[in-house]
Amino acid sequence: MKKILITRKLLPLSEKYALKIFNAKLNKEDKIINQEDLIKGSNDCDGILSSLTEKIDAGVIAKLSSSVKIISNFAVGYGNIDIVAARKRNIVVTNTPDVLTDATAEIAILILLGAARRAKEGAEWANKKDWKWSADFLMGKQLTGARLGILGMGRIGRAVANIARSFGMIIHYHNRSQLDKNLEKEAIYHNSLESLLSVSDFFSINCPATKETKHIINKDTLKCFPDGAVLSNSARGDMIDDDAMVKSLKSGKIFSLGLDAYNGEPNIHPDYATLPNVFVLPHLGSSTIKTRTAMGNLAVSNLEEFFKTGKCKNTVK
Ligand code: GLV
Repeated sequence: MKKILITRKLLPLSEKYALKIFNAKLNKEDKIINQEDLIKGSNDCDGILSSLTEKIDAGVIAKLSSSVKIISNFAVGYGNIDIVAARKRNIVVTNTPDVLTDATAEIAILILLGAARRAKEGAEWANKKDWKWSADFLMGKQLTGARLGILGMGRIGRAVANIARSFGMIIHYHNRSQLDKNLEKEAIYHNSLESLLSVSDFFSINCPATKETKHIINKDTLKCFPDGAVLSNSARGDMIDDDAMVKSLKSGKIFSLGLDAYNGEPNIHPDYATLPNVFVLPHLGSSTIKTRTAMGNLAVSNLEEFFKTGKCKNTVK
C-alpha cells in the first residue's frame, strides 16, 4: 500500500475512500500545519494530499523526502504550490477541476449581489432593529440589464456568465485567448484588460493566481472602471492590490467590493473589515457537502490514478 499524508481533515466519505486504498496519515484535529511539519509529516510518504492552507514553495519542495512523487491539491487553484520547483524534482502536481465549478460560481454571484445590494449594511441595520423603511434607504446597484466584465473565462468564469445571463446581464470578458463561439455564447471578448474594465459596471475576477495576474487590479487599472463600478473576487487575493482598492472604495470610484478570497487569509486587511461597502465571506466558494466530498474524492482518485498508471489526467501543466 502506498503511504500518503493528508494534510487537512477531509469529509468522512473521502477519508474512508483514502483509507481503503492507502496507508493514509490523517490530520484528525484538522490543525493548520506549518512548512516544517509538512516536511516532517511527508517523510517516507509516496504522495501528499495538500490543501490551500499550505504554502509549498521551492524551499519546501527542496526539502521533501525523495519518496514523494505526487502532490494532489484539494482545490482547483494551485497558487500555493511552486509548480516549476515541483517539476524540477519530478513531482507531479494535480488539482480538482470541474467538480467545484457550480458551487464557486454561486458564491461569485452571491458576493456580487451582496456588494451591489449592500447586504452587509442591510444585515447590520436589520439586527439593530431601529431602521425605518424609506424610499431612499440603502440604495444599491441593480444587476439586471447591466454589463458584467469577467476576468478569466475558464470553467468558473463561464458558469458565472451563465447565471448572470439569467439576470439579463450583458457579458464581456478578457481571457488569454478568445473562446470558441459555442463557449462564448455571445459574450463580448476584449483583447486588453483595460478595454474590459472600461465597460465593467460589474466585474468578477475568475482567473488563476499567477505571476502575470498578481496585482492586476491596481491603482492604474482601477482608474479604467466606470465610476461607481461594483467589483468582486472569488478566485484568489493575489489579483488585487489592497491599498489601491481601499483608496478607490473610500473615494467612491468603486461603489462596493465583494470578496470570497483575499490576501493573507484569515487576516483580512483592516479597512476591508470595517468599510461598509465591502462584503466579505471567508473563502466559501466550494463549501457545500456535495462539492467538498466530490473534491476530496477526486483528490484521492488523482493519487490512485497516478500510482496505477504513472500519470493523471488532472496533472497541472
Ligand atoms: C478553492 O478556492 C479552490 O481553488 O478550489
